[in-house]
Amino acid sequence: MTQQPFYITTAISYPNGRPHIGHAYEAIATDAIARFQRMMGRDVFFMTGTDVHGLKMAQTARDRDVTPGALANEMSSYFKEMDDVLNISYDRFIQTSEPDHHAASQAIWKALEANGDLYLDRYEGWYSVRDEAFYDEKELVEGDGGEKLSPQGTPVTWTAEESWFFRLSKYQEPLLKHYAANPDFIRPESRRNEVLRFVEGGLSDLSVSRTSFDWGVKVPDSEGHVMYVWLDALTNYLTGVGYPGDTAEFRKYWPADYHIIGKDIVRFHAVYWPAFLMSANIALPKQVFGHGFLLNRGEKMSKSLGNVVDPTEYADRFGVDQLRYFLLSEVTFGNDGSYSEEAIVTRCNADLANSFGNLAQRTLSFIAKNCEGKLAADGFEPTQDDLDLYHLVHRACAEFERHMGQLEISAAIESWMRAVFACNQYIDAQAPWTLRKTDPARMVAVLAVLYEAIGNVAIAIQPIIPAATAKLLDQMGVPDDARTYAVIRERAWYRALAASGFTLAPPSPIFPRLELPAGE
Ligand code: MSP
Repeated sequence: MTQQPFYITTAISYPNGRPHIGHAYEAIATDAIARFQRMMGRDVFFMTGTDVHGLKMAQTARDRDVTPGALANEMSSYFKEMDDVLNISYDRFIQTSEPDHHAASQAIWKALEANGDLYLDRYEGWYSVRDEAFYDEKELVEGDGGEKLSPQGTPVTWTAEESWFFRLSKYQEPLLKHYAANPDFIRPESRRNEVLRFVEGGLSDLSVSRTSFDWGVKVPDSEGHVMYVWLDALTNYLTGVGYPGDTAEFRKYWPADYHIIGKDIVRFHAVYWPAFLMSANIALPKQVFGHGFLLNRGEKMSKSLGNVVDPTEYADRFGVDQLRYFLLSEVTFGNDGSYSEEAIVTRCNADLANSFGNLAQRTLSFIAKNCEGKLAADGFEPTQDDLDLYHLVHRACAEFERHMGQLEISAAIESWMRAVFACNQYIDAQAPWTLRKTDPARMVAVLAVLYEAIGNVAIAIQPIIPAATAKLLDQMGVPDDARTYAVIRERAWYRALAASGFTLAPPSPIFPRLELPAGE
Protein backbone atom coordinates (compact mmCIF):
# COMPACT_ATOMS: atom_id res chain seq x y z
CA MET A 1 0.00 0.00 0.00
CA THR A 2 1.46 3.41 -0.88
CA GLN A 3 1.46 5.83 1.98
CA GLN A 4 -0.32 9.11 1.52
CA PRO A 5 2.15 12.00 1.63
CA PHE A 6 1.90 14.70 4.29
CA TYR A 7 3.95 17.89 4.19
CA ILE A 8 4.25 20.11 7.26
CA THR A 9 6.45 23.15 7.94
CA THR A 10 7.34 25.53 10.74
CA ALA A 11 8.27 29.13 10.06
CA ILE A 12 11.99 29.49 9.52
CA SER A 13 13.44 31.60 12.32
CA TYR A 14 15.64 34.68 12.09
CA PRO A 15 18.89 33.59 13.69
CA ASN A 16 19.86 37.12 14.75
CA GLY A 17 19.98 35.88 18.33
CA ARG A 18 19.72 32.57 20.12
CA PRO A 19 16.48 30.59 20.03
CA HIS A 20 13.96 31.32 22.79
CA ILE A 21 11.07 29.33 24.15
CA GLY A 22 8.65 30.74 21.56
CA HIS A 23 10.73 29.13 18.82
CA ALA A 24 10.82 25.92 20.84
CA TYR A 25 7.04 25.96 21.22
CA GLU A 26 6.46 26.15 17.47
CA ALA A 27 8.97 23.36 16.80
CA ILE A 28 7.47 21.12 19.48
CA ALA A 29 3.87 21.61 18.35
CA THR A 30 4.77 20.96 14.73
CA ASP A 31 6.80 17.94 15.71
CA ALA A 32 3.89 16.47 17.65
CA ILE A 33 1.66 16.82 14.58
CA ALA A 34 4.33 15.31 12.31
CA ARG A 35 4.86 12.34 14.64
CA PHE A 36 1.12 11.84 14.93
CA GLN A 37 0.71 11.73 11.15
CA ARG A 38 3.58 9.24 10.85
CA MET A 39 1.81 7.04 13.35
CA MET A 40 -1.32 7.34 11.24
CA GLY A 41 0.67 5.82 8.40
CA ARG A 42 1.34 8.98 6.41
CA ASP A 43 4.58 9.55 4.51
CA VAL A 44 5.58 12.74 6.32
CA PHE A 45 8.01 15.42 5.22
CA PHE A 46 8.74 17.91 7.98
CA MET A 47 10.61 21.07 7.12
CA THR A 48 12.17 23.66 9.44
CA GLY A 49 15.22 25.91 9.49
CA THR A 50 16.52 29.47 9.57
CA ASP A 51 15.81 32.61 7.55
CA VAL A 52 19.20 34.23 7.28
CA HIS A 53 18.83 37.09 4.79
CA GLY A 54 17.49 40.61 5.16
CA LEU A 55 18.40 43.82 6.86
CA LYS A 56 17.95 42.54 10.40
CA MET A 57 20.65 39.91 9.93
CA ALA A 58 22.89 42.35 8.02
CA GLN A 59 22.61 44.96 10.80
CA THR A 60 23.13 42.46 13.63
CA ALA A 61 26.25 41.16 11.87
CA ARG A 62 27.55 44.72 11.44
CA ASP A 63 26.94 45.47 15.14
CA ARG A 64 28.88 42.36 16.12
CA ASP A 65 31.62 43.00 13.62
CA VAL A 66 31.20 39.70 11.82
CA THR A 67 30.01 38.92 8.30
CA PRO A 68 26.30 38.08 7.89
CA GLY A 69 27.37 34.66 6.58
CA ALA A 70 29.38 33.90 9.72
CA LEU A 71 26.54 35.13 11.96
CA ALA A 72 24.05 32.98 10.02
CA ASN A 73 26.19 29.87 10.34
CA GLU A 74 26.93 30.27 14.01
CA MET A 75 23.41 31.16 15.10
CA SER A 76 21.73 28.58 12.86
CA SER A 77 23.74 25.92 14.64
CA TYR A 78 22.05 26.91 17.94
CA PHE A 79 18.61 26.52 16.37
CA LYS A 80 19.56 23.12 15.02
CA GLU A 81 20.97 22.14 18.38
CA MET A 82 17.72 23.22 20.06
CA ASP A 83 15.74 21.07 17.62
CA ASP A 84 17.97 18.09 18.30
CA VAL A 85 17.76 18.49 22.07
CA LEU A 86 13.96 18.76 21.90
CA ASN A 87 13.67 15.63 19.77
CA ILE A 88 12.27 17.50 16.76
CA SER A 89 11.95 14.93 13.98
CA TYR A 90 12.51 17.27 11.03
CA ASP A 91 13.41 15.85 7.63
CA ARG A 92 15.25 18.94 6.47
CA PHE A 93 16.71 21.88 8.36
CA ILE A 94 17.19 24.56 5.74
CA GLN A 95 19.40 27.62 6.03
CA THR A 96 18.32 30.03 3.31
CA SER A 97 21.91 30.76 2.27
CA GLU A 98 22.10 27.25 0.74
CA PRO A 99 22.61 27.17 -3.06
CA ASP A 100 19.49 25.14 -3.90
CA HIS A 101 17.41 27.73 -2.07
CA HIS A 102 18.93 30.59 -4.05
CA ALA A 103 18.12 28.67 -7.23
CA ALA A 104 14.51 28.07 -6.10
CA SER A 105 14.05 31.75 -5.15
CA GLN A 106 15.39 32.92 -8.50
CA ALA A 107 13.12 30.44 -10.26
CA ILE A 108 9.99 31.74 -8.56
CA TRP A 109 11.13 35.29 -9.32
CA LYS A 110 11.34 34.41 -13.01
CA ALA A 111 7.90 32.84 -12.86
CA LEU A 112 6.41 36.04 -11.38
CA GLU A 113 8.20 38.05 -14.03
CA ALA A 114 7.03 35.76 -16.85
CA ASN A 115 3.47 36.30 -15.66
CA GLY A 116 3.89 40.06 -16.01
CA ASP A 117 3.62 40.69 -12.26
CA LEU A 118 6.92 42.49 -11.63
CA TYR A 119 7.79 46.10 -12.56
CA LEU A 120 10.57 48.47 -11.64
CA ASP A 121 9.68 51.67 -9.75
CA ARG A 122 10.71 53.64 -6.69
CA TYR A 123 9.69 52.70 -3.16
CA GLU A 124 9.02 55.49 -0.74
CA GLY A 125 7.52 54.48 2.56
CA TRP A 126 7.94 52.96 5.98
CA TYR A 127 9.93 49.86 6.76
CA SER A 128 10.35 47.97 10.02
CA VAL A 129 13.65 46.13 10.18
CA ARG A 130 12.49 44.13 13.19
CA ASP A 131 9.46 42.81 11.27
CA GLU A 132 11.20 42.97 7.87
CA ALA A 133 7.94 44.52 6.68
CA PHE A 134 6.67 47.53 4.72
CA TYR A 135 3.74 49.38 6.25
CA ASP A 136 1.25 51.90 4.90
CA GLU A 137 1.15 55.23 6.69
CA LYS A 138 -2.42 54.48 7.78
CA GLU A 139 -1.32 51.32 9.61
CA LEU A 140 1.20 53.06 11.86
CA VAL A 141 0.56 53.78 15.53
CA GLU A 142 2.06 56.38 17.82
CA GLY A 143 4.64 55.41 20.45
CA ASP A 144 4.88 56.89 23.99
CA GLY A 145 7.30 59.54 22.80
CA GLY A 146 5.13 60.42 19.79
CA GLU A 147 7.32 58.39 17.42
CA LYS A 148 5.83 56.32 14.65
CA LEU A 149 5.65 52.58 15.24
CA SER A 150 4.47 49.60 13.20
CA PRO A 151 1.20 47.94 14.24
CA GLN A 152 3.41 45.37 16.03
CA GLY A 153 4.98 48.18 18.06
CA THR A 154 8.37 48.03 16.33
CA PRO A 155 10.34 51.08 15.09
CA VAL A 156 9.93 52.08 11.44
CA THR A 157 12.28 54.03 9.21
CA TRP A 158 11.54 56.03 6.08
CA THR A 159 12.92 54.23 3.08
CA ALA A 160 13.29 55.55 -0.45
CA GLU A 161 15.00 53.54 -3.14
CA GLU A 162 14.59 51.94 -6.55
CA SER A 163 12.73 48.68 -6.19
CA TRP A 164 10.99 45.94 -8.09
CA PHE A 165 7.28 45.72 -7.30
CA PHE A 166 4.95 42.76 -7.30
CA ARG A 167 1.40 43.39 -8.53
CA LEU A 168 -0.23 42.30 -5.30
CA SER A 169 -3.26 44.52 -6.00
CA LYS A 170 -4.15 42.25 -8.93
CA TYR A 171 -4.65 39.35 -6.49
CA GLN A 172 -7.15 40.95 -4.13
CA GLU A 173 -10.18 39.34 -5.78
CA PRO A 174 -8.57 35.93 -6.45
CA LEU A 175 -7.45 35.79 -2.80
CA LEU A 176 -10.90 36.66 -1.47
CA LYS A 177 -12.38 34.01 -3.74
CA HIS A 178 -9.88 31.48 -2.46
CA TYR A 179 -10.65 32.26 1.20
CA ALA A 180 -14.38 31.94 0.50
CA ALA A 181 -14.01 28.63 -1.31
CA ASN A 182 -11.59 27.22 1.29
CA PRO A 183 -12.84 28.19 4.74
CA ASP A 184 -10.03 26.18 6.36
CA PHE A 185 -7.24 27.90 4.44
CA ILE A 186 -6.51 30.14 7.43
CA ARG A 187 -7.03 28.89 10.97
CA PRO A 188 -7.99 29.60 13.65
CA GLU A 189 -11.10 31.60 12.82
CA SER A 190 -9.89 34.80 14.51
CA ARG A 191 -6.82 34.97 12.24
CA ARG A 192 -8.94 34.25 9.20
CA ASN A 193 -11.16 37.22 10.05
CA GLU A 194 -8.14 39.49 10.48
CA VAL A 195 -6.84 38.49 7.06
CA LEU A 196 -10.24 38.93 5.40
CA ARG A 197 -10.53 42.45 6.81
CA PHE A 198 -7.02 43.30 5.66
CA VAL A 199 -7.53 42.07 2.11
CA GLU A 200 -11.02 43.57 1.80
CA GLY A 201 -9.45 46.90 2.76
CA GLY A 202 -7.48 46.83 -0.52
CA LEU A 203 -3.99 45.66 -1.39
CA SER A 204 -1.16 47.88 -2.61
CA ASP A 205 1.58 46.49 -4.80
CA LEU A 206 4.48 45.12 -2.79
CA SER A 207 8.11 46.16 -2.95
CA VAL A 208 10.05 42.93 -3.51
CA SER A 209 13.66 44.00 -3.94
CA ARG A 210 16.20 46.19 -2.15
CA THR A 211 19.24 48.06 -3.40
CA SER A 212 20.65 49.58 -0.20
CA PHE A 213 22.37 46.34 0.92
CA ASP A 214 23.46 43.14 -0.77
CA TRP A 215 22.89 40.36 1.78
CA GLY A 216 20.27 38.22 0.09
CA VAL A 217 19.31 36.34 -3.03
CA LYS A 218 20.33 38.24 -6.16
CA VAL A 219 17.49 39.33 -8.42
CA PRO A 220 18.08 37.63 -11.80
CA ASP A 221 19.43 40.01 -14.44
CA SER A 222 19.04 43.11 -12.28
CA GLU A 223 22.39 44.36 -11.05
CA GLY A 224 22.37 45.77 -7.51
CA HIS A 225 19.00 44.28 -6.45
CA VAL A 226 18.54 41.59 -3.80
CA MET A 227 15.15 40.01 -3.22
CA TYR A 228 12.94 41.17 -0.38
CA VAL A 229 13.70 38.73 2.40
CA TRP A 230 10.11 37.49 2.75
CA LEU A 231 9.89 36.50 -0.90
CA ASP A 232 12.98 34.35 -0.53
CA ALA A 233 12.04 33.08 2.95
CA LEU A 234 8.56 31.89 1.95
CA THR A 235 10.06 30.07 -1.02
CA ASN A 236 11.91 27.76 1.39
CA TYR A 237 8.71 25.72 1.55
CA LEU A 238 9.18 24.92 -2.14
CA THR A 239 12.95 24.46 -2.00
CA GLY A 240 12.54 21.78 0.64
CA VAL A 241 10.54 19.53 -1.65
CA GLY A 242 12.57 19.87 -4.81
CA TYR A 243 11.37 23.04 -6.59
CA PRO A 244 12.12 24.15 -9.30
CA GLY A 245 11.42 21.62 -11.99
CA ASP A 246 8.86 18.91 -12.21
CA THR A 247 10.57 16.61 -9.70
CA ALA A 248 8.95 13.46 -8.30
CA GLU A 249 9.48 14.82 -4.79
CA PHE A 250 7.71 18.06 -5.59
CA ARG A 251 4.78 16.26 -7.17
CA LYS A 252 4.58 14.01 -4.15
CA TYR A 253 4.65 16.55 -1.31
CA TRP A 254 3.37 19.81 -2.75
CA PRO A 255 0.99 21.43 -1.88
CA ALA A 256 1.89 21.49 1.82
CA ASP A 257 -0.74 20.24 4.23
CA TYR A 258 0.12 22.75 6.97
CA HIS A 259 2.24 25.81 7.41
CA ILE A 260 2.48 26.15 11.20
CA ILE A 261 3.43 29.73 12.08
CA GLY A 262 2.93 32.35 14.78
CA LYS A 263 0.12 34.89 14.73
CA ASP A 264 2.49 37.78 13.96
CA ILE A 265 3.34 36.49 10.49
CA VAL A 266 -0.07 35.41 9.24
CA ARG A 267 -0.24 38.24 6.71
CA PHE A 268 2.91 37.04 4.95
CA HIS A 269 1.66 33.46 4.77
CA ALA A 270 -2.00 34.01 4.05
CA VAL A 271 -1.81 37.03 1.71
CA TYR A 272 1.62 37.47 0.10
CA TRP A 273 2.49 33.77 -0.17
CA PRO A 274 -0.70 32.60 -1.91
CA ALA A 275 -0.49 35.63 -4.23
CA PHE A 276 3.09 34.74 -5.22
CA LEU A 277 2.04 31.14 -5.78
CA MET A 278 -0.98 32.11 -7.88
CA SER A 279 1.26 34.31 -10.00
CA ALA A 280 3.81 31.50 -10.41
CA ASN A 281 1.00 29.09 -11.24
CA ILE A 282 1.78 26.80 -8.30
CA ALA A 283 -0.89 25.15 -6.14
CA LEU A 284 -1.61 26.80 -2.78
CA PRO A 285 -0.89 25.15 0.58
CA LYS A 286 -3.94 23.54 2.17
CA GLN A 287 -3.80 25.36 5.47
CA VAL A 288 -1.98 28.14 7.27
CA PHE A 289 -2.32 27.78 11.04
CA GLY A 290 -1.37 30.81 13.15
CA HIS A 291 -0.64 29.70 16.70
CA GLY A 292 -0.60 32.09 19.64
CA PHE A 293 2.28 33.63 21.54
CA LEU A 294 3.94 32.26 24.61
CA LEU A 295 4.14 34.77 27.44
CA ASN A 296 6.37 34.64 30.50
CA ARG A 297 3.92 34.86 33.44
CA GLY A 298 1.57 36.73 31.14
CA GLU A 299 4.24 39.19 29.98
CA LYS A 300 5.77 39.53 26.55
CA MET A 301 9.31 38.15 26.46
CA SER A 302 11.95 40.71 25.75
CA LYS A 303 15.65 41.15 26.26
CA SER A 304 15.05 44.41 28.14
CA LEU A 305 12.75 42.71 30.66
CA GLY A 306 15.34 39.97 31.10
CA ASN A 307 12.68 37.28 30.89
CA VAL A 308 13.81 35.45 27.76
CA VAL A 309 14.14 31.76 28.48
CA ASP A 310 16.64 29.43 26.84
CA PRO A 311 14.63 26.33 25.92
CA THR A 312 17.58 23.93 26.17
CA GLU A 313 18.21 25.08 29.72
CA TYR A 314 14.57 24.33 30.60
CA ALA A 315 14.87 20.95 28.89
CA ASP A 316 17.92 20.22 31.02
CA ARG A 317 16.19 21.25 34.20
CA PHE A 318 12.75 19.76 33.74
CA GLY A 319 13.31 17.13 31.05
CA VAL A 320 12.61 17.26 27.32
CA ASP A 321 9.32 15.37 27.44
CA GLN A 322 8.22 17.32 30.48
CA LEU A 323 8.76 20.60 28.62
CA ARG A 324 6.99 19.26 25.52
CA TYR A 325 4.08 17.99 27.59
CA PHE A 326 3.74 21.20 29.55
CA LEU A 327 3.69 23.48 26.51
CA LEU A 328 1.29 21.34 24.52
CA SER A 329 -1.17 20.68 27.36
CA GLU A 330 -1.07 24.11 29.00
CA VAL A 331 -1.58 26.21 25.87
CA THR A 332 -4.66 25.81 23.68
CA PHE A 333 -3.18 25.61 20.20
CA GLY A 334 -4.14 28.84 18.46
CA ASN A 335 -4.37 30.93 21.66
CA ASP A 336 -1.71 32.77 23.62
CA GLY A 337 -0.44 30.95 26.68
CA SER A 338 1.61 31.66 29.73
CA TYR A 339 4.43 29.70 31.31
CA SER A 340 6.35 29.82 34.55
CA GLU A 341 8.62 27.40 36.36
CA GLU A 342 5.94 26.73 38.99
CA ALA A 343 3.39 25.95 36.30
CA ILE A 344 5.75 23.49 34.61
CA VAL A 345 6.54 21.71 37.88
CA THR A 346 2.90 21.60 38.98
CA ARG A 347 1.54 20.21 35.74
CA CYS A 348 4.31 17.69 35.16
CA ASN A 349 4.08 16.39 38.70
CA ALA A 350 0.30 16.09 38.59
CA ASP A 351 -0.10 14.52 35.15
CA LEU A 352 3.19 12.80 34.39
CA ALA A 353 4.80 11.84 37.70
CA ASN A 354 1.72 11.23 39.89
CA SER A 355 -0.83 10.02 37.36
CA PHE A 356 0.81 8.37 34.37
CA GLY A 357 4.30 7.57 35.65
CA ASN A 358 3.09 6.26 38.97
CA LEU A 359 0.41 4.11 37.33
CA ALA A 360 3.00 2.46 35.10
CA GLN A 361 5.58 2.12 37.82
CA ARG A 362 3.35 0.53 40.41
CA THR A 363 1.70 -1.85 37.96
CA LEU A 364 4.92 -3.01 36.33
CA SER A 365 6.88 -3.37 39.54
CA PHE A 366 3.99 -5.35 41.02
CA ILE A 367 4.14 -7.76 38.08
CA ALA A 368 7.94 -7.97 38.27
CA LYS A 369 7.80 -8.71 41.98
CA ASN A 370 4.74 -10.91 42.35
CA CYS A 371 4.49 -12.71 39.03
CA GLU A 372 8.19 -13.09 38.31
CA GLY A 373 7.65 -10.69 35.43
CA LYS A 374 5.34 -13.12 33.58
CA LEU A 375 2.37 -11.67 31.71
CA ALA A 376 -0.94 -13.46 32.13
CA ALA A 377 -2.53 -14.81 28.97
CA ASP A 378 -5.84 -13.01 28.52
CA GLY A 379 -7.97 -16.14 28.45
CA PHE A 380 -10.03 -15.05 31.46
CA GLU A 381 -13.65 -14.00 31.42
CA PRO A 382 -13.61 -10.17 31.72
CA THR A 383 -15.80 -8.54 34.36
CA GLN A 384 -17.94 -5.51 33.64
CA ASP A 385 -15.24 -3.33 35.25
CA ASP A 386 -12.63 -4.78 32.88
CA LEU A 387 -14.83 -4.17 29.85
CA ASP A 388 -15.59 -0.63 31.01
CA LEU A 389 -11.90 0.13 31.24
CA TYR A 390 -11.13 -1.36 27.81
CA HIS A 391 -13.89 0.74 26.27
CA LEU A 392 -12.96 3.89 28.04
CA VAL A 393 -9.31 3.60 27.03
CA HIS A 394 -10.25 2.87 23.43
CA ARG A 395 -12.69 5.77 23.32
CA ALA A 396 -10.13 8.13 24.84
CA CYS A 397 -7.46 7.04 22.34
CA ALA A 398 -9.93 7.52 19.49
CA GLU A 399 -10.73 11.02 20.78
CA PHE A 400 -7.03 11.76 21.01
CA GLU A 401 -6.73 10.77 17.36
CA ARG A 402 -9.68 12.88 16.28
CA HIS A 403 -8.45 15.98 18.12
CA MET A 404 -4.87 15.65 16.86
CA GLY A 405 -6.18 15.36 13.30
CA GLN A 406 -7.82 18.78 13.86
CA LEU A 407 -4.71 20.29 15.51
CA GLU A 408 -6.60 20.47 18.82
CA ILE A 409 -3.52 19.37 20.70
CA SER A 410 -4.45 20.31 24.26
CA ALA A 411 -7.92 18.79 23.86
CA ALA A 412 -6.25 15.60 22.61
CA ILE A 413 -4.11 15.50 25.75
CA GLU A 414 -7.19 16.03 27.94
CA SER A 415 -8.84 13.02 26.33
CA TRP A 416 -5.72 11.00 27.00
CA MET A 417 -5.65 12.08 30.65
CA ARG A 418 -9.19 10.72 31.03
CA ALA A 419 -7.85 7.29 30.13
CA VAL A 420 -5.00 7.65 32.62
CA PHE A 421 -7.44 8.66 35.38
CA ALA A 422 -9.65 5.69 34.57
CA CYS A 423 -6.68 3.32 34.85
CA ASN A 424 -5.79 4.79 38.24
CA GLN A 425 -9.37 4.45 39.45
CA TYR A 426 -9.41 0.87 38.22
CA ILE A 427 -6.22 -0.11 40.02
CA ASP A 428 -7.44 1.48 43.26
CA ALA A 429 -10.85 -0.18 43.01
CA GLN A 430 -9.51 -3.61 42.05
CA ALA A 431 -6.63 -3.45 44.58
CA PRO A 432 -4.43 -6.22 43.15
CA TRP A 433 -2.30 -6.08 46.33
CA THR A 434 -5.32 -7.39 48.28
CA LEU A 435 -6.25 -9.90 45.59
CA ARG A 436 -2.78 -11.37 45.89
CA LYS A 437 -3.95 -13.06 49.08
CA THR A 438 -7.69 -13.37 48.52
CA ASP A 439 -8.01 -14.26 44.82
CA PRO A 440 -4.72 -14.74 42.98
CA ALA A 441 -6.43 -15.72 39.71
CA ARG A 442 -8.38 -12.46 39.69
CA MET A 443 -5.19 -10.54 40.53
CA VAL A 444 -3.58 -11.96 37.38
CA ALA A 445 -6.59 -10.93 35.28
CA VAL A 446 -6.54 -7.40 36.72
CA LEU A 447 -2.84 -7.07 35.91
CA ALA A 448 -3.45 -8.26 32.35
CA VAL A 449 -6.17 -5.63 31.86
CA LEU A 450 -3.92 -2.94 33.28
CA TYR A 451 -0.92 -3.98 31.22
CA GLU A 452 -2.86 -3.68 28.02
CA ALA A 453 -4.44 -0.39 29.07
CA ILE A 454 -1.08 1.13 30.05
CA GLY A 455 0.50 -0.04 26.80
CA ASN A 456 -2.32 1.53 24.83
CA VAL A 457 -2.21 4.89 26.58
CA ALA A 458 1.58 4.92 26.13
CA ILE A 459 1.22 4.15 22.40
CA ALA A 460 -1.37 6.90 22.01
CA ILE A 461 0.66 9.68 23.63
CA GLN A 462 3.93 9.00 21.75
CA PRO A 463 3.73 12.15 19.55
CA ILE A 464 3.71 14.35 22.67
CA ILE A 465 6.30 12.58 24.84
CA PRO A 466 8.29 10.39 22.45
CA ALA A 467 11.35 9.57 24.58
CA ALA A 468 9.53 8.57 27.77
CA THR A 469 6.99 6.45 25.91
CA ALA A 470 9.76 4.73 23.92
CA LYS A 471 11.49 3.87 27.18
CA LEU A 472 8.28 2.57 28.74
CA LEU A 473 7.19 0.58 25.70
CA ASP A 474 10.68 -0.92 25.41
CA GLN A 475 10.53 -2.02 29.04
CA MET A 476 7.08 -3.45 28.41
CA GLY A 477 8.27 -5.41 25.39
CA VAL A 478 5.80 -3.78 22.97
CA PRO A 479 7.32 -4.35 19.50
CA ASP A 480 8.15 -1.28 17.40
CA ASP A 481 5.70 -2.17 14.68
CA ALA A 482 2.87 -2.44 17.23
CA ARG A 483 3.14 1.20 18.29
CA THR A 484 0.36 2.57 16.08
CA TYR A 485 -3.26 3.64 16.50
CA ALA A 486 -4.42 0.81 14.30
CA VAL A 487 -2.87 -1.68 16.71
CA ILE A 488 -4.68 -0.13 19.69
CA ARG A 489 -7.93 -0.72 17.84
CA GLU A 490 -7.10 -4.28 16.88
CA ARG A 491 -6.27 -5.32 20.46
CA ALA A 492 -3.61 -7.71 19.24
CA TRP A 493 -0.27 -6.82 20.76
CA TYR A 494 -0.93 -7.90 24.33
CA ARG A 495 -2.06 -11.40 23.43
CA ALA A 496 0.93 -11.94 21.15
CA LEU A 497 3.35 -10.59 23.75
CA ALA A 498 1.97 -12.76 26.57
CA ALA A 499 2.08 -15.82 24.31
CA SER A 500 5.70 -15.08 23.38
CA GLY A 501 6.87 -15.83 26.94
CA PHE A 502 8.16 -12.26 27.43
CA THR A 503 9.47 -11.56 30.94
CA LEU A 504 9.22 -8.10 32.41
CA ALA A 505 12.37 -6.87 34.15
CA PRO A 506 12.00 -4.70 37.27
CA PRO A 507 11.01 -1.36 35.70
CA SER A 508 12.75 1.97 36.14
CA PRO A 509 10.51 5.02 36.60
CA ILE A 510 9.95 7.26 33.57
CA PHE A 511 8.88 10.48 35.26
CA PRO A 512 10.68 11.54 38.44
CA ARG A 513 8.91 14.14 40.55
CA LEU A 514 10.17 17.64 39.76
CA GLU A 515 11.23 20.08 42.45
CA LEU A 516 11.33 23.84 42.17
CA PRO A 517 14.79 25.20 42.88
CA ALA A 518 15.03 26.45 46.48
CA GLY A 519 13.89 30.02 46.96
CA GLU A 520 11.47 30.00 43.99
N1 MSP B 1 11.84 34.58 9.69
C1 MSP B 1 10.47 34.83 9.93
C2 MSP B 1 9.60 33.69 9.43
C3 MSP B 1 9.79 33.33 7.98
S1 MSP B 1 8.79 31.98 7.52
C4 MSP B 1 8.91 31.90 5.86
C5 MSP B 1 10.23 35.02 11.43
N2 MSP B 1 11.19 34.57 12.25
S2 MSP B 1 11.13 34.69 13.85
O1 MSP B 1 12.37 34.12 14.33
O2 MSP B 1 10.84 36.02 14.24
O3 MSP B 1 9.92 33.81 14.32
C6 MSP B 1 9.89 32.43 14.03
C7 MSP B 1 8.57 31.83 14.51
O4 MSP B 1 8.55 31.88 15.95
C8 MSP B 1 7.35 32.60 14.01
O5 MSP B 1 6.32 31.71 13.63
C9 MSP B 1 6.94 33.39 15.23
O6 MSP B 1 5.57 33.69 15.27
C10 MSP B 1 7.31 32.43 16.34
N3 MSP B 1 7.45 33.10 17.62
C11 MSP B 1 8.30 34.13 17.93
N4 MSP B 1 8.08 34.50 19.23
C12 MSP B 1 7.11 33.72 19.77
C13 MSP B 1 6.52 33.60 21.03
N5 MSP B 1 6.83 34.38 22.05
N6 MSP B 1 5.61 32.61 21.20
C14 MSP B 1 5.28 31.73 20.21
N7 MSP B 1 5.81 31.82 19.00
C15 MSP B 1 6.67 32.85 18.73
O7 MSP B 1 9.18 35.52 11.79
